Amino acid sequence: MQRREFIRTSCLLCAGLLIAQPILQSCSTVPVLKLQAKNAQIIVDKATLKPNQKLHIIRNTKMDFDLLLVENADGSYHALYMQCTHYSQPLAANSKQLFCSAHGSVFNFNGEVLKSPAEKNLTKYIVEPSANQLIIKL
Ligand code: FES
Repeated sequence: MQRREFIRTSCLLCAGLLIAQPILQSCSTVPVLKLQAKNAQIIVDKATLKPNQKLHIIRNTKMDFDLLLVENADGSYHALYMQCTHYSQPLAANSKQLFCSAHGSVFNFNGEVLKSPAEKNLTKYIVEPSANQLIIKL
């Protein structure tokens, strides 16, 4: 292989890996629960949560974007609205963070911006636990 051809091929491979990185990050699966909002709340039956999963996506037809239900280290929960605060694009989640494929913003599971261009934190919802349910207050 000629030196010039080697450099060209290597550069194309590196560019491809950079482009594929966000896509590969989104491959890790977060379970999705389809539930309906009613009376400004969403009720999650604890029995429907996957065991040993700290994250669940809550999908419902009354909201434009999904919610990410997060179990904290102390066993409490909160939910994040998966709408990027930069230009309102949907966010994806993997086991480490939420990210926006539009322009690359990254958020932690507390909803805080880790990487711009987004500057504002995500909308966060209180989750009230009961014996068998989690109630997301919208
Ligand atoms: S819309 Fe998400 S980073 Fe721009």
